[in-house]
Amino acid sequence: MAFLKRRPAAEAQVDFDHLPRHVAIIMDGNGRWAKKRGLPRTAGHAAGAENFRTIATYCKDIGLEYLTVYAFSTENWKRPAEEVSAIMGLLKKYLLEAISRMERDRVKMRFFGDLSPLDPELQALCRRTEEISTHYEGCQVNICLNYGGRDEVLRAAKAFAEDCVRGDQKPGDLTEETFGSYLFSDGVPDPDLVIRPSGEIRISNFLLWQSAYAEFYFTDVLWPDFTKEELNKALAAYQGRSRRFGGV
Ligand code: IPE
Ligand code: IPE
Ligand code: MG
Repeated sequence: MAFLKRRPAAEAQVDFDHLPRHVAIIMDGNGRWAKKRGLPRTAGHAAGAENFRTIATYCKDIGLEYLTVYAFSTENWKRPAEEVSAIMGLLKKYLLEAISRMERDRVKMRFFGDLSPLDPELQALCRRTEEISTHYEGCQVNICLNYGGRDEVLRAAKAFAEDCVRGDQKPGDLTEETFGSYLFSDGVPDPDLVIRPSGEIRISNFLLWQSAYAEFYFTDVLWPDFTKEELNKALAAYQGRSRRFGGV
């Protein structure tokens, strides 16, 4: 075998005419990415934020309808205050830039999560981004911020119970569809594909209700290293799956 040559790794074969409608990503591994380079964890978050921009743009370019990303969980408040404030600072910076580019990018943005504990300036930026982009059609990016799946379901249950007390709803009439309308994701189809980089095989309180029938894709690649090619691999893997939804 004297002439064996090293071939470039085969590119993932994606059928761009049959993409999943909705891809959700747990953007994990920023801290380990930084640690590997001897950098502070905050440098990993900066690299992760930059990568979010790259991947969101790619999703828009290939014609994906919905991208949902996990940016900060209801559990992430347990982190050191400096790390939390660095993440919030990066979010502000990103949103300010996004607002200035919105007319060009025309990406619709929504936030899933309870924004009320956030710094008022950041809350205002989130609201402004949603308002400006409300009429854009095409790609919709949902950013999960202070989001937890259990918190979301609890809130929905409470809001529904309140509507029952007011007489606007009846407990016996509750359907999955009606319950879904009380969630942050009201109006957004369930994710078809949930991706978790960083090697962890868990969902960490992400889209618990919505991902009931999602396909999962796990990879060891850390989020700041998760390139368009990595996304293509995930899309190709998804396209190779057989979704049965309980049928045959
Ligand atoms: C994900 O990266 C970002 C947030 C949770 C905000 P991590 O900060 O969790 O990175 P690792 O898991 O420590 O590597
Ligand atoms: C999940 O990552 C939350 C986000 C990516 C925003 P974590 O790093 O917080 O999850 P665990 O702690 O490994 O489960
Ligand atoms: Mg993590």
